[in-house]
Parts: sequence; structure tokens; C-alpha cells
Amino acid sequence: MTLFDERARLVANAGAGPNLFVATFEAPRLAQSVQPGQFAHMQIPGMESHILRRPFSVYGRNLASQTVDILYQVVGAGTRHLSGISPRSDLAEGFGLIGPVGRGWSPPAATSRALLVGGGVGAAPLFMLAESLKGQGVPATVVLGAQTHAALACEAAYLDLLGEDDVRCATDDGSYGRPGFCTSLATEALDQAAAEGRPFDYVAVCGPEPLMRIVAQEARERGVACEVSMERRMACGVGACLSCVVETALGKKRSCVDGPVFDGSEVLW
Ligand SMILES: Cc1cc2nc3c(=O)[nH]c(=O)nc-3n(C[C@H](O)[C@H](O)[C@H](O)COP(=O)(O)OP(=O)(O)OC[C@H]3O[C@@H](n4cnc5c(N)ncnc54)[C@H](O)[C@@H]3O)c2cc1C
Ligand code: FES
Repeated sequence: MTLFDERARLVANAGAGPNLFVATFEAPRLAQSVQPGQFAHMQIPGMESHILRRPFSVYGRNLASQTVDILYQVVGAGTRHLSGISPRSDLAEGFGLIGPVGRGWSPPAATSRALLVGGGVGAAPLFMLAESLKGQGVPATVVLGAQTHAALACEAAYLDLLGEDDVRCATDDGSYGRPGFCTSLATEALDQAAAEGRPFDYVAVCGPEPLMRIVAQEARERGVACEVSMERRMACGVGACLSCVVETALGKKRSCVDGPVFDGSEVLW
């Protein structure tokens, strides 16, 4: 896969929840080439004191407007600075996006029904996968989890795409959907589908590592293929610095180029 280093223009930067934003960039080459689960390594203008780029998964793309969307959570200096950049400011012209980086989702060709599990902002890297599965006629169900209702990301987009029967939500504080962690909803979905004779045969998970570990284990126990997106702190983003290593049964792998998506049964949790 060819990597581009594209100068991108920020065209929207809208709030999407507490400390959550969706940034839209005019980035024609990335929009045309990105595959579900891949990410962009972003140089944020006006941050000359921070030389490292920041990795963000692509949430959506629009081929007509040649734009990509990124859902991001404000967690530190880079994301805080990004959240303050207006599309009308001079800085909006100065973004650099290296991409599309990494190995994205690769459901087995024979997948007949898919379960997607997204915790927090982990809902975003699964959205293009849901679109792709739907385009191929593969039924998909998504389980979303967040600490609170306000922090539940992407629910409306999934409802539009999949319909309400295939969008299930859990919140840690019980303010919406099933109270508690979304792991229990995911396990329940796996067992219910099997009992109904329409089992899931592929699971994709993105979110906090304990969530991915539990869902990968539940899938493995049921003989269901499972992929996970392992986000590591990244420096170079192109496979050269080994700052993003994931321990797997096949040895040390670099999350940036060998992942971020890995076979859940190969990760040494
Ligand atoms: C492949 C990949 C895809 C990602 N996709 C998204 C996305 O779609 N949306 C999103 O909001 N975030 C995503 N992230 C995480 C995002 O890169 C970090 O939140 C961001 O770099 C933080 O930058 P900062 O300058 O604001 O924070 P910093 O000041 O650098 O760090 C602040 C806090 O964030 C933590 N942090 C920094 N980088 C990461 C990381 N890679 N993983 C986990 N914690 C981190 C630090 O440990 C620290 O506690 C992704 C990370 C990777 C590796
Ligand atoms: S970030 Fe440098 S090898 Fe992955």
C-alpha cells in the first residue's frame, strides 16, 4: 500500500460529546485510498514544540467531497490544541496527514454474520467496516459502550446504517442502554445468535485493552474469528522506531505497520 504525505485542510471541527470532536479534512488521496481500520498520522499545525505526529483512525470518508472524518477525544496537549482550531483560521490549511497507514480489518471471505464491538472512541474505526460489510450483503450488529450516555460515540451513524435492531448500547453508569460494561452485551449477542441458529462467525473489537481481551477470549471459546485494533503510543508511524510493539504468538509485531488490526487469538494479552 502506497503511503501519501498529504497536505490537508480542516473543513469542520465539531463537538460530538464531552471532550469528543469530529474533524473533517479535505484530503483527496487519503479519502480515495483508505481502507476500514487504517489510520492517518497527523501533523497538527501550530504545535512546533511537539514534533511527533498523532495517529488517528479514519472514521468515515466521503468520495464526493474528497473528505475524511476523524472522531477524536481530547486527552492531552495535541488533541486539546486540535480541538481549538477553527476551520476559518489560517492554521486550518496547514495539516499534514500521512496515510493510509497500517493493516485494517480483514474479515474472512466466508463471513456470513459479523459482530462489531466498540468501546468509547473505539466505535469510530469500526464504522467503515460496518459500511463495507453492509455493501457486501453481510449482516452486521454493533455493540457500543461508553461511560455515560453523553459519551456514547457514533450511535446515530450506526442507527442510520444498520437500523435499531442491530445497534445495542451499554453505559457504565446506566444512563442509557444496558447498565454496565458492553462486554456482557457482546457475550450475550454471541450466545443469542448461536441459539437462534444464525451465529456470528466474525467479531471485530476496538476500544480499551481489557474490553478487547475479554471479547477476544469469549470469541475464541466459541470458535469465532476475532480481530482487535491494538493502539499503541507511536513515534515514527512507519515501522522504523519499534515504539509501538505488540507481543504476539508469532513474536513482536509493530502496531503501526503490522497492525493496528491483529488476530485476537494471536495477541499475548
Ligand atoms: C492506530 C491508532 C489509532 C487511533 N485512533 C484514534 C481515534 O480515532 N480517536 C482518538 O481520539 N484517538 C485515537 N488514537 C489515540 C490518539 O493517537 C491519542 O489520543 C493522541 O495521540 C493523544 O495526543 P495528545 O497530544 O492529545 O496526548 P498526549 O499528551 O500525547 O498524551 C495524553 C494521554 O493520552 C495517552 N495516549 C497518547 N497516545 C496514546 C495512544 N496511542 N493510545 C492510547 N493512549 C494514548 C497518553 O498515555 C496520555 O495519558 C489512536 C491511536 C492509535 C495508535
Ligand atoms: S511507531 Fe515507529 S515502528 Fe511503529
